Amino acid sequence: MTGHETDEAAEEAAEEAAHREFLRLLGGLRIWNHPLPGFDPVGLPAEPVSLFRTWLTEAAAAGCPEPHCLALTTADTEGRPSARMMTLADADARGWHFASLETSRKGQELDGRRHAALLAYWPVHGRQVRIRGPVTLADAAAGAADLAGRSPGARAAALAGRQSEVLARREDLAAAYGTARGALADDPRTPVPAWRRYLLEPDEVEFFQGAADRRHIRVRYRRTGGARPQWTQELLWP
Ligand SMILES: Cc1cc2nc3c(=O)[nH]c(=O)nc-3n(C[C@H](O)[C@H](O)[C@H](O)COP(=O)(O)O)c2cc1C
Repeated sequence: MTGHETDEAAEEAAEEAAHREFLRLLGGLRIWNHPLPGFDPVGLPAEPVSLFRTWLTEAAAAGCPEPHCLALTTADTEGRPSARMMTLADADARGWHFASLETSRKGQELDGRRHAALLAYWPVHGRQVRIRGPVTLADAAAGAADLAGRSPGARAAALAGRQSEVLARREDLAAAYGTARGALADDPRTPVPAWRRYLLEPDEVEFFQGAADRRHIRVRYRRTGGARPQWTQELLWP
């Protein structure tokens, strides 16, 4: 064996050992190693948003970190999906609201294909909620109002823009944030037209209550009505 081959063999052995260690870690991790609440699917609210609010409120009360952060999945025009975390801005009778830059990847994907999915997971209670439906863009005033309620850092980030573009040099980011902070110091209401509020109007919302014995309870709400939504509830096999 040459010295080069010996190095390669040692590197491979180290990689294999690291992989074995990783698999050992995965094998030792557990889900729901703590008591989970029960969930009676009888007598649930007629529409899904109140149950969602109850579950989020209960997760927050139980100390679940960032219970208002959900994964948002969009797809490009070829149907290739892309997911990322988003902060929930509201959930009301119309649907689930979030905000972002319309120039970002998600903004462009939503522009080309308006269907999306949101996913909430609260490990503390073993609860998952899946939401899907078309997304609409709220008017510019809604975006401005949303941004006005955010922290100075968040406003500067929005104003600097360029979310999801390739960042050629770290210094470019520092310079853009510096410029944005300066502009906001001069005028805290500096508009950021690309910052928009989005509304996902659900056609389906599924509530999943995990159970240690794997007899999970799944209840799906399906929208059946038109302008005045009606909801059908059905149980799903776990
Ligand atoms: C917990 C958490 C919350 C986030 N909330 C938001 C948000 O409300 N709006 C937003 O534009 N990006 C948010 N982000 C950043 C996004 O996950 C993502 O990196 C960014 O929006 C770019 O996504 P895109 O390339 O798919 O457009 C959040 C990230 C995390 C980890």
